Amino acid sequence: MIKNDLFLRALKGEIVDRPPVWMMRQAGRYLPEFMALKEKYDFFTRCQTPELASEITVQPIRRYGMDAAILFSDILVIPQAMNIEVQMKPNFGPYLPNPIRNAQDLEKVIVPDVHDALGYVMDAIAMTKEKLNEEVPLIGFAGSPWTILCYCVEGQGSKSFDKARGFCFTQPEMAHQLLQRITDTTIAYLKAKVAAGVNAVQVFDSWGGMLSPADYQIFSWPYIQQIVNALKDEAPVIVFGKGCWFALKEMANSGASAVGVDWTCSPENARYLTGGKVTLQGNFDPARLLSPPEEIKKMVKQMIDAFGKDKYVANLGHGILPHIPLENAKAFIDAVKSYGA
Ligand code: CP3
Repeated sequence: MIKNDLFLRALKGEIVDRPPVWMMRQAGRYLPEFMALKEKYDFFTRCQTPELASEITVQPIRRYGMDAAILFSDILVIPQAMNIEVQMKPNFGPYLPNPIRNAQDLEKVIVPDVHDALGYVMDAIAMTKEKLNEEVPLIGFAGSPWTILCYCVEGQGSKSFDKARGFCFTQPEMAHQLLQRITDTTIAYLKAKVAAGVNAVQVFDSWGGMLSPADYQIFSWPYIQQIVNALKDEAPVIVFGKGCWFALKEMANSGASAVGVDWTCSPENARYLTGGKVTLQGNFDPARLLSPPEEIKKMVKQMIDAFGKDKYVANLGHGILPHIPLENAKAFIDAVKSYGA
């Protein structure tokens, strides 16, 4: 039994004294104890070494006492397992030297046995569960098939992913084949993560907002829906789409336990679009963590009042930024934990 199950109760929509809180990308980036490990080990070594991944996962919990931990890893371990080379270049980000642009490229893309290719993630989960000692739930995650396709086709990060969108619009059949292979791999991967011990899963559609609402229904949403269908009876699923306010209604009706909201959509509008049915998660502007701690505390209270304390998970509207002062992150967490007290 997990001692602090506030997060899991909020995902079920139960009445709570205060909302649970965690921060997207909470493991790493801004923490000095993470930076110390980052200096010694390269990115994929950190992901692939269960001792390191589990240590990084619990670092923010020890420092701040969030109500959930998220496993340290990356969405790009999926293309890596599918036989697409992925490098993480310091001060540049992801780099895929052989992007998928034509039928020949696609031929090499496999649906792997996730236990063979990603067994190290399952080992990291087992080790993390031991370190967490049933204190708080552990979240596992994957990128949405569309967001993974963005990197596979573009070959690197981008402000607009024009090549990825162009690939979908000029070679839709190939795009759908790639999306389906990513979906099949992701479903097997998330199921294995649940079997290994994660208590909930989140799908990050970080680049969903690059698509028009109509194209979202063609190239992103149907694949996320497949993932939700396959996972929802095994663990609570959270769907987060950045810039995807237009899809909040589908997300709320998908069988997902919770829907993530970014900061460009007001709490009132998010509740309206989701019909008040589903648990919502979000949506503090990550850059607002640069405001003075006293202001952060006031704004957090306003945010919770606006969403309502029930059917709600307090979080940022996207990942925490690298240069956030430690006391500001603390102010955010503490403000949620003292809500209503
Ligand atoms: O809470 C956590 O930090 C858990 C681990 C986590 C990482 N990546 C570690 C990481 C999670 C949940 C992710 C998800 C991820 N990765 C997403 C979706 C979430 C989002 O922010 O939209 C995306 C788009 C990626 C792809 C990715 N990985 C990029 C674009 C980069 C480089 C820029 C950056 O974010 O720093 C990464 C590298 C990465 N993944 C780092 C970390 C801690 C930083 C590099 C390093 O530590 O050496």
